[in-house]
Amino acid sequence: MRLLLRIGGVVVENPVALAPMAGVTDSIFRRICKAMGAGLVVTEMVSSKGLLHNNHRSAELLAFTDQERPIAIQIFGSDPEIMGKAAKQISALEPDIVDINMGCPTPKIVKNGDGAALMRDPDLAARVVESVAANVSCPVTVKLRRGWDAASPPAAKIAPLLEKAGAQGFTVHGRYREQFYRGKADWECIAEVKAAVNVPVWGNGDVDSPDAALKMMEQTGCDGVMIGRAALGNPWIFREVTYYLRYGDYLPKPSLRERMDLALAHLQEEASVVGEVDGVKRMRSQLAWYTKGFPGAAAVRQRLNQAVTVAEVREILASCLKLEEI
Ligand SMILES: Cc1cc2nc3c(=O)[nH]c(=O)nc-3n(C[C@H](O)[C@H](O)[C@H](O)COP(=O)(O)O)c2cc1C
Repeated sequence: MRLLLRIGGVVVENPVALAPMAGVTDSIFRRICKAMGAGLVVTEMVSSKGLLHNNHRSAELLAFTDQERPIAIQIFGSDPEIMGKAAKQISALEPDIVDINMGCPTPKIVKNGDGAALMRDPDLAARVVESVAANVSCPVTVKLRRGWDAASPPAAKIAPLLEKAGAQGFTVHGRYREQFYRGKADWECIAEVKAAVNVPVWGNGDVDSPDAALKMMEQTGCDGVMIGRAALGNPWIFREVTYYLRYGDYLPKPSLRERMDLALAHLQEEASVVGEVDGVKRMRSQLAWYTKGFPGAAAVRQRLNQAVTVAEVREILASCLKLEEI
């Protein structure tokens, strides 16, 4: 199996990417996943309109470090002119890839015609791609869903139009917009897109283990897998999948101590950026994910939700380790 991917001129060494997840995949988490072997990381989605208004939140979402390269910045919006201007602005940051979000199902986004709503209007979607591609020198990719719903144009019909408009790669999440994140992802639509275009395709949806990653690649012919929810509290998955694809063997699961150490290191990084109290608050869901499966996990989560300082979090996590040793 070919493990190296080329998206335009960008070389991606491992065919395993971290999916964009709003509220989760900030620069700190992306660096952690990168260190674990993620071949590509993607920012949280950034509003093209917010960018043009010099929105403070947008600037925060755009920040990345060289350690994260190759990195894709993901933008959303449906006005070709605004998307083009936003892309031009982003160019100054020299991302490796600009990715266009055509998959977000949230009512707040689709009611403006953005995100997955673009899949209902392939001509407009193509104009958006054209405008973004005309304003950047790096490759442009698009993240699609299976379609808006079963009655709307499927991803495999839309992707070739977007390729013609300048898209140099795709991610396909095998669910309709209607499904949000429910039900099992359909992988057949990934195979259909792969067969319909001449550029790399990331398969996405329900990859939660090395076996699932290999199965998706074999079943669909996709060039790489993109992992979202299975990386929450579990960035080791990138190491495990990469190792399995390379050597056909499994790495041991991280120990409780390793998970605790990484959770704390992650928290400390967060606290150093936003301050201790905000850092602990922001990390609540991440800490809950890191401690999934810990002895007494539900009670631990409750205590973590009340913690205010890093020292308190450390003490709560350390008590889990002691429990395991008993
Ligand atoms: C909390 C959360 C936030 C997400 N935010 C984004 C986003 O900003 N942009 C995007 O294209 N997809 C977003 N997604 C979708 C994921 O990138 C991915 O397509 C989806 O979770 C399916 O992959 P998985 O089964 O590996 O989780 C988000 C998903 C979740 C769970």
